[in-house]
Order: sequence, then C-alpha cells, then structure tokens
Amino acid sequence: MTTLDLGALDRPVLICGGAYGNLQALEALAAFQAGAGIADSHVIHTGDAVAYCADTEAATQFIASRGWHAIKGNVEEQIAAGAQDCGCGFEEGSACDVASARWYAHAAATLSPASKAWMAGLPSHLTFRMSGLRARVVHGSVSQTNRFMWASLPEGEFAVELDASGADLVIAGHTGIPFTRFIGERCWHNSGALGIPANDGTRRVWVSVLTPSSFGITISHHALEPDVHTAAAAIRRDGLPARYADGLETGLWPSLDILPQTERSATGQALSLDGASFSHARQVIAAK
Ligand SMILES: [Fe+2]
Repeated sequence: MTTLDLGALDRPVLICGGAYGNLQALEALAAFQAGAGIADSHVIHTGDAVAYCADTEAATQFIASRGWHAIKGNVEEQIAAGAQDCGCGFEEGSACDVASARWYAHAAATLSPASKAWMAGLPSHLTFRMSGLRARVVHGSVSQTNRFMWASLPEGEFAVELDASGADLVIAGHTGIPFTRFIGERCWHNSGALGIPANDGTRRVWVSVLTPSSFGITISHHALEPDVHTAAAAIRRDGLPARYADGLETGLWPSLDILPQTERSATGQALSLDGASFSHARQVIAAK
C-alpha cells in the first residue's frame, strides 16, 4: 500500500470518485470544475475510474490527462494485477457479482496498456493538510480497499477506522451514496459516485468541495446532472448489462444486494444533502 502526501492545500479541493467509465459524467464534472474555478491540481478522484459504464479508455484518459490526483480503487487494483474479477466485495453468485463479470471483462479488454500502467502507478491513499487539519483519502475504508462504509454503520466502526487513519478527516468512496458524518471531533466524508446515480430515483450524481477557512474546513455536497442517455446508449451499444443503462435513466440501482436496511429503505427517495440547495455549505470542522 502506498500513500502520497500532497502537503498543505490552501485552496478549495474538488472531490469525486467512481467515474465508472461514464464519460458524460466526467464532462459534467469538468464543467462544474471550470465554473467553480478549481485547478486540476486540486481535483481528487477516490478510485474506480472504470466499472459499469462503457467508455473505459476515454474516461480513464480524461482523468489521467488532466493530471487530477487519483488513488486506486478496487477496480484499479484488480486491473493492475491482471486479476479475473473486480474485487468489489460483492457476495459470490449475487446479481452484482454476476453482472460485474461482464463489465470487468469489458474494462480489461478495452483499456490501453498506457491506462493500465497509469492505474498501476496510482497510490492507495492520499494525505494532505487543510486549515491545520489532517485529511486522508481512501477508497473503501482505511484498512480495506473494498470495504463498504455505509452512513448507517455504528459509530464505533467509524471510530476504529479513523483511529487507523491518523487523520481528522477521512475522505472515502466505493459505496456510491454521499454522506458526511461526524464522529466526535473527527469526520468521515463520502462524496458519492460520479458514474451512476445514488439510488434515489433521480439522475443526479454527486461530488463535493472542501473549502479551507480561518475556522476549519467547509464541506459542501454538489449534485450534477450529466447526459445519462448518451452514457446509457454506450452501455447498450457495447452489450454490457442493460440493467446499468436502466439505472442511469431511472436513478435506481438494479440490485440492492449490498445495501444495509437503512440505505435500502431510502431507495427512490430524492437525496437532500443541503435542505433547499445542493450547493450551500453543509458542515464545518472546527480547527484544532
Ligand atoms: Fe470500489
């Protein structure tokens, strides 16, 4: 496991993850980035550049060519290792497990040697400091790349992972549903997935912005509305499981296998991470 330290960051940082081979979502992200005036050096992708969607090579190069920071998700780990499956942590024989065999094979077959080499060279974690606070970027959990850290997990499970992080703030991905949760004075943040909606019945995908201030870090969740129909058409064009194309267009996941009961019961309920507005600041971490 490798960790790359980015040093002190004193400008806003754009967090995204789970691009999942969705080129149109990345284009929507780049438009958001430009509007927010965030430099490429301050964009971080939390892993799984490819998965359910079809445009694996274009999506990977979209991230790599801009010089955005990125870490390995379980998919990058498996592709780099030449493994036969995605290592997502799906239960063997489950609907997700069976469908993943198809998109993973597609990714392995369509990624260029250069893109695979880029994935192989990514660190497992990033660290940086902002407003005097320590942040660690991971894919699943601190201790395990493909662990699903759902918002509904008991506080103690987050505390153990935060203890292992050596950080005040952990930024994670992998689950696909955004949230920010405070555990005492520390924080666990998931920006959500860029490449597929959050199972909330809308076509929105999620990213976040961390903004330094004199009193700490402000975390804001942001919803984007990419061109899901073009991404869905690409999935169907390449013969990938149509359930993912349907998921893009309905905003509902094709299988709820991996979801705990709390997240499962929220299926189809539009996420509202900021009350009336998706772009207002949500949380502030008080500087120590
Ligand atoms: Fe993942």
